[in-house]
Amino acid sequence: MTDSKPNTLVSEEEIHKRVDEISRQINSDFEGKGTLVLVGVLKGAFIFLADLSRKLTIPHSIEFIAVSSYGTQGADSGAVRLLMDVREDLVGRHVLVVEDILDTGHTLDYLTTLLKARNPASLSTCVLVRKTDRVQVNVHIDYLGFDIPDVWVVGYGLDFAEKHRTLPYIGVVKSDSD
Ligand code: IMP
Ligand code: MG
Repeated sequence: MTDSKPNTLVSEEEIHKRVDEISRQINSDFEGKGTLVLVGVLKGAFIFLADLSRKLTIPHSIEFIAVSSYGTQGADSGAVRLLMDVREDLVGRHVLVVEDILDTGHTLDYLTTLLKARNPASLSTCVLVRKTDRVQVNVHIDYLGFDIPDVWVVGYGLDFAEKHRTLPYIGVVKSDSD
């Protein structure tokens, strides 16, 4: 992998249009239900969460949770570890988990199991991109940005070894042979 500019997979315009559509859907689904708790999954979801939350017209609060997959990045062992928990009590609250990417599905499966055990009034999931061909665990996604092929994506919060997180679009890192 090189440091050269990643090829565009999903453009900035496409992302903004989709974030707009998703936020409108969330506004209408949670209208009149009190304060929605957005739980952003660090680090990758921070930009998506920031854009999404600023489009919401319903009352909402922002929490973060951090997890890590055991082993090296991209390893599919399925073991997930909690690194940082939310601060708020979620009992009786409407909770929306905001995640950057669904790859094997283990991370979101772990998180939904963990958060459901806290007896929220409802638990929904919002995922920016899903690697359709990689999913091993079926986790329900309520709001999905884009389905993408099995490629390593960066940008809009997503990284490759901490690089490219702040790219405004979702790109594919070029391999050295390109
Ligand atoms: P999971 O396999 O669905 O549990 O995803 C594990 C985590 O791997 C995701 O939350 C991301 O942080 C990371 N990940 C998986 N695929 C990519 C990718 O293409 N780019 C950047 N991060 C990824
Ligand atoms: Mg993630």
